[in-house]
Amino acid sequence: MKIGIDKISFNASNKYISIEELAIKRNVEIEKYTKGIGQIEMSIIDRTQDIVVLGALASKDILDKEDKEKIDLIIFATESSIDQSKAASIYIKNILNINNYCKCIEIKQACFSATAALDFARGHILQNENSKVLIIASDIAKYGVNTSGEVTQGAGAVAMLITKNPKILEFNNDAVSYTEDVMDFWRPNYSEVAFVDGKLSVSKYLELLSKVYEKFDRKNLSAICLHVPYSKMAYKGLISITNDEKILSEFENSITYNKKVGNIYTGSLYLSLISLLANSNSLKEGDNIGMYSYGSGAVAEFFSLKLVKGYEKMIDKEFFDNKLKNRKKLTVEEYENIFFEKTDNNLQEINEKIYLKGIKEDKRIYEIKRDFNVEI
Ligand code: HMG
Repeated sequence: MKIGIDKISFNASNKYISIEELAIKRNVEIEKYTKGIGQIEMSIIDRTQDIVVLGALASKDILDKEDKEKIDLIIFATESSIDQSKAASIYIKNILNINNYCKCIEIKQACFSATAALDFARGHILQNENSKVLIIASDIAKYGVNTSGEVTQGAGAVAMLITKNPKILEFNNDAVSYTEDVMDFWRPNYSEVAFVDGKLSVSKYLELLSKVYEKFDRKNLSAICLHVPYSKMAYKGLISITNDEKILSEFENSITYNKKVGNIYTGSLYLSLISLLANSNSLKEGDNIGMYSYGSGAVAEFFSLKLVKGYEKMIDKEFFDNKLKNRKKLTVEEYENIFFEKTDNNLQEINEKIYLKGIKEDKRIYEIKRDFNVEI
């Protein structure tokens, strides 16, 4: 049975800052951030957005009435969980009016868990061929003001619908996985920001890439997407495994969106995939796309996906470009004031389709303007 990605979209929040302006404010050479790290903009959230809001906005783009009736599994992949018990996918099911006859779960392993979710979805569809699985990869990356990781923050979500006879990409079932116990990056429950050994994380990303790629069998790839904590990291990874001109020529297409959003952890690899499909003019049916998934801690996997006939009809570049263009630009000072602000029991009313109003009696209150858009 052919199984794979039938629909895909992302949400990169509604605000951003310029990386050049961040460099100036931090008294860092602009080129260190724009070339050495390779970023241009960074998505920012305020207290009215969280992983659920970002995930619901990404999912809303791809689901029609029939999908909402047929989805029987929703997997939420995140490392920015809002609750130790309740799965964020239950909120998504409610916000988007997805039928109740489905399983909702949340899974974790740093940036790797959306890749694990794809595997889980494939196994589920093999046993229930008419089912549709919604995967949401949603995260908020925070290292703190004036830290070396600050320039690699970000916020956003990717939503994917997994089905049989998919309209975009088929799984090739060729994954090579590798796990090693490393303290390169971790987020203990008591901390708002990530702990990171930056240099170790960079070397482990590359070392584990070489380990999984050397055992990966299918080398007839037309492009490769890698996990993008920042675009220079993905570039270093790519040139460490290939000098194929065709693959290298697709690299810029695969990081165009990530350079403007920043690290969205679980969603980063899949945002890169969207970026590649939206911006490449040379990919075609039957081409294999290599995928390198890395989650600190650390789990790595290399696998590939095959483009199916007519995939380009499912990818709307203008729609994706506009999502980034329509974000509001903040000053660095405004970002410093809102990005680290905690949601509290001060309920806020704002003019957005889906947002987090605040916390009441320890329950998160999401506002959904159903008449704003009948599709919600
Ligand atoms: P840093 O120490 O500030 O930067 O932190 P640096 O001194 O290493 O410089 C970065 C690059 O800029 C270097 O290039 C410099 O030469 C260059 P490289 O040696 O890497 O080729 N540079 C310049 N280039 C042009 N013009 C200039 C200039 N000056 C310097 N004037 C670091 C960088 C990435 C370590 C830091 O931002 C950090 O800790 N980030 C967070 C961790 C991270 O993103 N790690 C990536 C791999 S781990 C991963 O991907 C997993 C993760 O997503 C988490 C998860 O799985 O959940 C993070």
